[in-house]
Amino acid sequence: MTPPYDLESLMRHALALAARGRGFVEPNPMVGAVVLDSAGNLVGEGWHQRFGGPHAEVFALQAAGEKARDGTLIVTLEPCCHHGKTPPCTDAVLKAGVSRVVVAMADPFPRVAGGGLKILRDAGVEVQVGVCAAEAHKLNAPYLKLLHTDRPWVHLKWAMTLDGKIATRTSDSKWISGEESRRRVHELRGRVDAVIVGRGTVVADDPLLTARPAGPRVAARVVVTASGDLPERCQLRESVREGLVLIYTAMGNEGKFAGWRADGAEVVALPANDNRLSLDAVLADLGKRRFTNVLVEGGAGLLGSFLDAKAADEFHVFIAPKIVGGDSALSPVAGRGVKLMADAFELAECTFEPSGRDVYVHGLAK
Ligand SMILES: NC(=O)c1ccc[n+]([C@@H]2O[C@H](COP(=O)([O-])OP(=O)(O)OC[C@H]3O[C@@H](n4cnc5c(N)ncnc54)[C@H](OP(=O)(O)O)[C@@H]3O)[C@@H](O)[C@H]2O)c1
Repeated sequence: MTPPYDLESLMRHALALAARGRGFVEPNPMVGAVVLDSAGNLVGEGWHQRFGGPHAEVFALQAAGEKARDGTLIVTLEPCCHHGKTPPCTDAVLKAGVSRVVVAMADPFPRVAGGGLKILRDAGVEVQVGVCAAEAHKLNAPYLKLLHTDRPWVHLKWAMTLDGKIATRTSDSKWISGEESRRRVHELRGRVDAVIVGRGTVVADDPLLTARPAGPRVAARVVVTASGDLPERCQLRESVREGLVLIYTAMGNEGKFAGWRADGAEVVALPANDNRLSLDAVLADLGKRRFTNVLVEGGAGLLGSFLDAKAADEFHVFIAPKIVGGDSALSPVAGRGVKLMADAFELAECTFEPSGRDVYVHGLAK
């Protein structure tokens, strides 16, 4: 950052610092902070770097040292006021002697929820809330969703050809997208808590579903199968020791997984309707595990069900300059679909980026 500073650009800088924690801090929020001395010079910055580690304010105030006295702390989320995995940040803020704290948004976490701001105000610190609030909410949308609904943020991903197919008529899908797009997908896998596929994808592709190279977290590999008819031998089963394999199946079909269980997989039985598992029950179980971000990678049946259930939050679509044709070749989203164009699912905040020879379309659910 270069002077002169204004509050919004400083808060945006703090938000950019916060984003460095993506994949490392969940289920905690991403938080960034900067400190100005009494003359308005930037004298410290920091971000929450890993789950259970010191919070952003602590790093920023430590970097500022004595220069923080009578200065300003600019932080993307309300400082905490409770003993969690670390002592309350409000103690560190008061000890540092800053006279003003600028916060993007209050923390709805029940043990904070305005308490941090109150402690600071009661101690005579000038507190301003709401600078770049919309950007701060957006950055931590997965954290906020988990907090408010006990369900993780759901990313949908698929790769398709120019003619809108995710596999050939023989179910061959390796590879639709190019190397750069696959690298991006592995990066995504490395920062989410779960990678989810339907039984059809396990049967057709025999995927491993790991992030290669590994990212900041190891995602659980999740299969959704009401029937429980998974192949006896497949890469997922053979690699159970590399990271949790979690299977959701219909009540009554758990017995089919004795071998998988013996190998170390976890099997959860859920209610099913018409041989389809309740996706809300799947998401509720993932939320109970405090999974913040989950990535649904297909296939068409499962992606369709997520869309029919309006259970998607974010989209990652790779379009490759290839054409495979074929009446029976699958398109990315099956399920029930909508009747009228007016009811089509529209993405918000769409971006279109080249990804090698492919196009990467990213957007949010409206
Ligand atoms: N290009 C890509 O990005 C990409 C990615 C992944 C897959 N694919 C391709 O997609 C194809 C597989 O897709 P698919 O549609 O056949 O299978 P799928 O979506 O992978 O799996 C569908 C299966 O999931 C189970 N399921 C359980 N509850 C469900 C629910 N609520 N909604 C939907 N499914 C539920 C059912 O299995 P049970 O019958 O056991 O209940 C269902 O048959 C393969 O050809 C694969 O190569 C492409």
